[in-house]
Amino acid sequence: MVDPAAFRTEAVQRIRAAVPGRAIVAASGGVDRSVAALLAHEALGERARTVFVDTGLLRAGEAERVRSLFGPTPVALHVVDAASRFLETLDGVSDPEEKRRRIGTTFIRLFEEEADRFGADRLVQGTIAPDWIESGGALRDTIKTHHNVGGIPSDSRLTLVEPLRDLYKDEVREVARFLGIPGSERQPFPGPGLAVRVGGPVTAERIELARVANRIVEEEVDRAVAEGTLPRPWQYFAVLLPGRTVGVTGDNRVYGEAVSVRLVESTDAMTAAAVAAPTALLRRIAERTTRELHGKVTRVLYDVTDKPPATIEWE
Ligand code: XMP
Repeated sequence: MVDPAAFRTEAVQRIRAAVPGRAIVAASGGVDRSVAALLAHEALGERARTVFVDTGLLRAGEAERVRSLFGPTPVALHVVDAASRFLETLDGVSDPEEKRRRIGTTFIRLFEEEADRFGADRLVQGTIAPDWIESGGALRDTIKTHHNVGGIPSDSRLTLVEPLRDLYKDEVREVARFLGIPGSERQPFPGPGLAVRVGGPVTAERIELARVANRIVEEEVDRAVAEGTLPRPWQYFAVLLPGRTVGVTGDNRVYGEAVSVRLVESTDAMTAAAVAAPTALLRRIAERTTRELHGKVTRVLYDVTDKPPATIEWE
């Protein structure tokens, strides 16, 4: 395990050494990037500009939450609304790696534009060990091109600074607790957001369906945890599946979408176990999803696969 105090001192020194001028810092509501942002601010002060990109691919309420997360910190958050730009670049794209590449490129272009405005030539990111290991950074085949690693175009003029690249998730959380970052127990959310929770083509409408389905899973898991019928899983979410499925509403046949629900236990995301979810919880999620997305989602499934052989996300 990591010694958070020693890690902080060392990371601040390493960031200072790596950034002679100015840096853009990529922020999000995620614990990795929040830790990186706080450390970069500590190391660089006014020489760092922390940028939060609202991709339009975020969970319900996420943009507001990120604003309030950074509110009490000394970090002044720069919010860039880029929802239409992301939707445009993803329009009709189905391939998961292509989604990540396009998202990665769009992120970098936005950061480059911010860097030009701010006079920066470094980009501080919260990349952690599983991100680059799973992107083929070690002696392994590429499992997934995590958008914040493999999606970066080689012609980018920004030099990356990655103060957390040797840490695993549980270690980052420990550092976050030490730094007093609230919500560090919050479940992880992938950088490419709902784009990788929409199997098949990305459209504005399908992103919105995935957003509602994910909100329902989060609310129902919260409820089950509060009732004491479920220990809080490590990660829990919904995925809109590629392809359609037949359902009935009244006398009508509907060719709707299917949602898969996933609850997993893990410590470092490298392996994961599917949770034996209470049937009552699953039925409530299915009932709400098909009611609140009436006529659009006609079937709800539960994923019982561990990692390996599956990954945590579907894409
Ligand atoms: P997988 O699906 O690879 O996920 O088993 C492992 C953990 O990483 C998250 N994840 C991502 N995080 N960019 C990210 O920042 C990505 O492209 C990405 N893909 C997966 C996933 O939610 C899980 O916690």
